Amino acid sequence: MREETKTTHLGRHPERFAGAVSTPVFRASTILSADVAEWEQKKRDRADGKPGTYYGLSGTPSRHLLEEALAEIEGGYKCQLYPSGLAACTIPILGYVRAGDHVLVTDSVYGPTRRFCTTQLARLGVETTFYDPLIGAGIKQLMRSNTRLVFTESPGSLTFEVQDIPAIAAAAHAAGAVVMLDNTWGTPLYFKPFEHGVDVSIQATTKYIVGHSDVIMGSVTCTREAWPGLDAVTTDYGQTAAPDDCFLAARGLRSMARRLPIHWESGLRLAEWIAQQPEVEVVLHPALPGAPGHDLWKRDFRGACGLFGVVLKPMAPRARDALIDALELFGIGASWGGFESLAIPFDAASLRTATRWHYAGPCFRVHAGLEHIDDLIADMAGGFVAMRAAL
Ligand SMILES: Cc1ncc(COP(=O)(O)O)c(C=O)c1O
Repeated sequence: MREETKTTHLGRHPERFAGAVSTPVFRASTILSADVAEWEQKKRDRADGKPGTYYGLSGTPSRHLLEEALAEIEGGYKCQLYPSGLAACTIPILGYVRAGDHVLVTDSVYGPTRRFCTTQLARLGVETTFYDPLIGAGIKQLMRSNTRLVFTESPGSLTFEVQDIPAIAAAAHAAGAVVMLDNTWGTPLYFKPFEHGVDVSIQATTKYIVGHSDVIMGSVTCTREAWPGLDAVTTDYGQTAAPDDCFLAARGLRSMARRLPIHWESGLRLAEWIAQQPEVEVVLHPALPGAPGHDLWKRDFRGACGLFGVVLKPMAPRARDALIDALELFGIGASWGGFESLAIPFDAASLRTATRWHYAGPCFRVHAGLEHIDDLIADMAGGFVAMRAAL
């Protein structure tokens, strides 16, 4: 099956739901058993990791069918859903480490994931070393006897460094460490984590899977070997995803393979247009020929989403702010992956500890939505006019 067919069909079982094409919202906390034997059997199924209906916390069909679809589309063994993308980044780490362990985390990691490492992991006696996202096979030099986990995010969702995941995974596995990837930018369609050595792959489903900016949710898909650690920690920390949210995420999934090419095409067209403006230092879009990370992107990715960064030549940040304020079609807001375009300022230098941010000019991040590309370019052109007036 091709991706468009998978996203349309997987995780649907109309025969179980009176023929309904989409699995209805299945809300439940208590789920009754007919007799004690069934009760005991359901508990055994739960312990064996089978998606049963023993208690709503471990999921109902609304959640299980979405997990089933996402695991297969991303190419892993099984999937667990979480109440946010951030929970999907942080809680699974706890399934693989204990006090006295060491983890390696990319310096380009999503800010709140970084904070979790420096606060919660540190409190538990787990040491974090942040590493250069472009380190590749050189990560071997940072592995210690107690390094249990290497956390990657490729490309970084603010600074867009593409990581050499196969090289990092080979070095991590040689030292017995688990490799986690925040694969939100790559999406389950455009980067296939398990073909590149990843053990545990995260999606902030909030972004392209939900696709409509109305649900917060995360998913974690992993290999068979990594499953016991993930399953246990998810249960122990009481992680789940609400049936109504699962319904909306499943609805988003059905159109994802058709939406993504538009985000990809529009993002690239915008990036090309922005790169031609004289005030622009560099456009951080891995799919843009000549941009940083383009060769690795070409080697490992099957496509690109609509998110990219822009570094302006040195100028007062208020000129960058004037550009963003003048945009009418790009909202100023956190998150991305919805149908709408966004633009936000960012300051990368203040987020680094292992590497230096080499650019001096102000930066902004763009999400290309589903609007017509000509309208987006015309709006961006208006932003550049406003920026020039503020110089
Ligand atoms: C790369 C990345 N990972 C994880 C998250 C967290 O997702 P959520 O907002 O659903 O907690 C985000 C959110 O912006 C993100 O950009």
